[in-house]
Amino acid sequence: MPRYRIATIPGDGIGVDVTVEAVKVLNAVLPDIAWTEFDWSCEQYLRTGAMMPEDGPRQLADFDAILLGAVGFPGVADHISLWGLLIPLRRAFGQYVNLRPVRLLPGTESALRGRTADDLDILIVRENSEGEYSAIGGTHNPGRPDEFVVQESIFTRTGCERIIRYAFEQARGRDRKLCSATKSNGLIHSMPYWDSIFERIAAEYPEVETRQMHVDALAAEIVLHPDRLDVIVGSNLFGDILSDLAAAVTGGLGLAPSGNINPARDAPSMFEAVHGSAPDIAGRGIADPVAQILAGAMMLAHLGESAAAAAVDRAVCDVLAEGAVRTPDLGGTATTAELGTAIAERAAALVTR
Ligand code: NAI
Ligand code: MG
Repeated sequence: MPRYRIATIPGDGIGVDVTVEAVKVLNAVLPDIAWTEFDWSCEQYLRTGAMMPEDGPRQLADFDAILLGAVGFPGVADHISLWGLLIPLRRAFGQYVNLRPVRLLPGTESALRGRTADDLDILIVRENSEGEYSAIGGTHNPGRPDEFVVQESIFTRTGCERIIRYAFEQARGRDRKLCSATKSNGLIHSMPYWDSIFERIAAEYPEVETRQMHVDALAAEIVLHPDRLDVIVGSNLFGDILSDLAAAVTGGLGLAPSGNINPARDAPSMFEAVHGSAPDIAGRGIADPVAQILAGAMMLAHLGESAAAAAVDRAVCDVLAEGAVRTPDLGGTATTAELGTAIAERAAALVTR
């Protein structure tokens, strides 16, 4: 009997290239995983008119976790790929936390001058189930001069409380500093509400030092003073934008992992790179697999396999630090598969079973 049953959805573009490498690395540290692949993608959409079958969530419900590549490809509108697969899965499985650790990895260079690994170690906790990403709204009077669109945001008490509390718990286990992203000067209903819940929950965690910053100023803070930041909590939209920014100022999108977490553990959590399907480099064997491999390590940690997770993390750091095998985004000439294999071999040597 395999210890874990994991579903993979490689998806589109480089999602396919990097998922193969993550599976290779995880097999090297934990041989008793049973993998089941689902070919849900934009290609499937063009063939069948749906990104996944109607009972897609039910097909995945009994797996221990899901490893997702990326979805999106030219010819299929991005809102179709996102709302046809990623968002329904996040919501069906109660994955209300999107966890995005951003670190400067050894042997890689920050886009910021003079910054070292000590300065850049941030955990972004993004709300993953409501907020600005809502389907409520519509286009009115289409095609007429008085045409207009409405896009609503949803901030529920339950949704705000649980994500903010989760962020405080994370901060308590790290440097005990939590910054909340707001924009209460512009969004005069949702953000003051978010802020009031943040302040109320902050009172339960006196040991955590808190700040509330407007998201624009916080974006600048990530660039100018990343060393002052530890955990950041933000709404769905703010967390999304800040994590791409934070990933870009560290080693780039090719290195940033994420987890869609169901903290109640009553449905599978889903792990993926922050980056998308990168059609500009897809199929050329040059995508950096590190983000997806680190997403795999987050999955192992979530499953309680902390030794295996640590071995993968350490293998990534060692191989990057040595610098002999690097993909083009890091200034090297190695292929996706060569870097994946180097990390898999190192991880296998490090793991203590
Ligand atoms: P992207 O993240 O796919 O690419 C942005 C840039 O970063 C590109 O120049 C790409 O070549 C580079 N890049 C990304 N990952 C890389 C890696 N592992 N190694 C080397 N270079 C890498 O974002 P973009 O171009 O905005 O979106 C492309 C498609 O991906 C769209 O259809 C979008 O909707 C979709 N997407 C899907 C996501 C998901 O499935 N979770 C998340 C973000 C975008
Ligand atoms: Mg994003």
